[in-house]
Amino acid sequence: MDKRKYIVRLVFHIQNSLEVHQKKTIFLVVLNIINGLTIHSMKKRFNVLVTRRLHRSALNMLEEKYNVQLHSGKIPIPKKTLMNKIKKMDGLICHPYDIIDKEVISGAENLKVISTFSVGFDHIDIEIAKSYKIKIGYTPEVLTNATAELTIGLILDVLRRISEGDRIIRNKKWNQIFGAYDYTGTEISGKTIGIMGMGRIGREVAKKANGLGMKVIYHNRKPVSKKIEKMLRVKYVSENSLYKNSDIISLHIPYNKDTHHLINSKIFKKMKKTSFLINTSRGKIVNEKQLIVALKTKQIQGAGIDVFEEEPIKKSNPLLKLENVVLAPHVGSSTKETRQKMSDITAKNLILGLQGKKLIYSV
Ligand code: DGY
Repeated sequence: MDKRKYIVRLVFHIQNSLEVHQKKTIFLVVLNIINGLTIHSMKKRFNVLVTRRLHRSALNMLEEKYNVQLHSGKIPIPKKTLMNKIKKMDGLICHPYDIIDKEVISGAENLKVISTFSVGFDHIDIEIAKSYKIKIGYTPEVLTNATAELTIGLILDVLRRISEGDRIIRNKKWNQIFGAYDYTGTEISGKTIGIMGMGRIGREVAKKANGLGMKVIYHNRKPVSKKIEKMLRVKYVSENSLYKNSDIISLHIPYNKDTHHLINSKIFKKMKKTSFLINTSRGKIVNEKQLIVALKTKQIQGAGIDVFEEEPIKKSNPLLKLENVVLAPHVGSSTKETRQKMSDITAKNLILGLQGKKLIYSV
């Protein structure tokens, strides 16, 4: 039955047992409720664009409230398609590598919230979005552990040559049993890891590295408090000292114009010849061409890489031919548990933003 009719009938029933002044009050209350319902049902549903599939639970949350348009074509969404679709959108759910630049943002006439399925937000022009008073949501914290786990995984893999050994076996090249020098790797315990960036993920890597018996030094824009240093058993060093003294350098800094190609041939020359570079942050922080030279010429011993200058990498990328690297397809946060949480937070950030409320995590 129509909600309004139901309320009217109910009230009619109650009214039979009331005094005149009580009846008047009830009549006014009911009028207000009916008006409220009418206004509510007439309210425009917001339009929301989602650039890639999210978990069903997250899409359900969105579809309950809004007209959701899920982009299902080429990924990342081509700029032209994005520009066309975003014009009348109130909300946008995007992913790393969807370029949300000035042109896209200024072409979005109604955009109120951008919610990205990531901790990184280098794909969004934050300054421009803020100048349009657009709220920006992201998903830190929930992916800290997963990304730190992958970092440790890459360290173990490249130092102990696990993937290389797997390739040797699969390619039927394991010919000799147990030679003293066969496939010797580098022991992890006792080595010094230099963590570049002591934010959430850097700290989690430090904890896990402690557990593996590594010494931890770090560099950050500002040292963390003495209390945190003590708790994490980490030592602050200058950037130069980090490059020179680390056996493993792990990057945990955001990508921006200051960190573009921060790690380049000059830095590889400073690093130990026996050292390894691990990158689970953003590809463009490392000059990939110069990394390839450093790996080929044994300026450094190896690398574990989850992020690249171009993703997916080209089939002709020389990294594919190098044995002293372990490559992962940008999966830092990719565990079932974490990705589910990221989807839910991305949807909730968007909903809160469209409701004019504080986001769970905002930039
Ligand atoms: C992020 O969230 O920015 C990560 O790179 C995704 O794995």
